[in-house]
Amino acid sequence: MTQADAEPGHVEVEGVALSFGSRRVFEALNCEFARGQISVLMGGSGTGKSTLLRMIGGLQRPDAGSIRVAGKEIVGLGEPGLASVRNHLGMLFQNGALLDSMTIFENVALPLREHTALSDGEIAERVHDRLAAVGLLNVDELLPGELSGGMLRRAALARSIAMEPAILLCDEPFSGLDPPNVSRIEALLTHLNRNRGLTLIVTSHHMATSLRMAHRIILLRGGESIEGSPAQLASSRDSAIREFLGKDGAEYLAHHGHEVGGAKG
Ligand SMILES: Nc1ncnc2c1ncn2[C@@H]1O[C@H](COP(=O)(O)OP(=O)(O)OP(=O)(O)O)[C@@H](O)[C@H]1O
Ligand SMILES: [Mg+2]
Repeated sequence: MTQADAEPGHVEVEGVALSFGSRRVFEALNCEFARGQISVLMGGSGTGKSTLLRMIGGLQRPDAGSIRVAGKEIVGLGEPGLASVRNHLGMLFQNGALLDSMTIFENVALPLREHTALSDGEIAERVHDRLAAVGLLNVDELLPGELSGGMLRRAALARSIAMEPAILLCDEPFSGLDPPNVSRIEALLTHLNRNRGLTLIVTSHHMATSLRMAHRIILLRGGESIEGSPAQLASSRDSAIREFLGKDGAEYLAHHGHEVGGAKG
């Protein structure tokens, strides 16, 4: 066991239950997301990936259980407590679109104006730093409608890291993008993790990309989580897991099979 394994997770989910009406999504979910690592949440449609991210982000309250973010219990917190937790949590959500009537500059500046006392000069510096980090130049005065899908996703990413979060939640950051833009977002997320030590929790249906970028995969199935390194899951004795990972899993294993050790799945 490495040092990192011994540390408590940056985000810890324990005994979480949630139902929508008669639809039970989670009964007693336990999983954790390691600090400074990229965790990819996978699972079939409707297994609760987005819902879990929303619970971690304090946007959806579980019926029972505990969710600790950097050691702090967030279940049961009121709006002021949640708001302060959210300042350390970036969120890139599928429907978290930019505001159409505001320029790209103002969109990225918005969280800084709302949640910090930075001066206009400091805000401009921070916004330009973030836009440069996602490779967007000279877009200050453009409206979201004037950007391509790939540029919009990058602008939303710039906004989600404006507050310098320690944890970034990304719901389907690759969806709807063409392959060059998928690669670009993958590279940006990997860079943020390596260079800023950001803890990333990403949901994705992009198998090859997920296997490549993940330190750890958390697979949701039937309200439970199955965790392992990409190599561990790709070599799981559970044929349903191997089937889920498909040919990308088999390909990954062909190149990384030597990394398997102590598989849990
Ligand atoms: N606000 C809501 N009200 C009622 N049911 C909901 C709500 N949000 C999610 N659900 C239900 O909870 C389950 C999990 O949904 P969720 O969106 O988390 O799945 P997902 O794993 O993200 O799926 P996908 O891969 O399609 O994005 C689904 O059955 C969904 O219909
Ligand atoms: Mg979803």
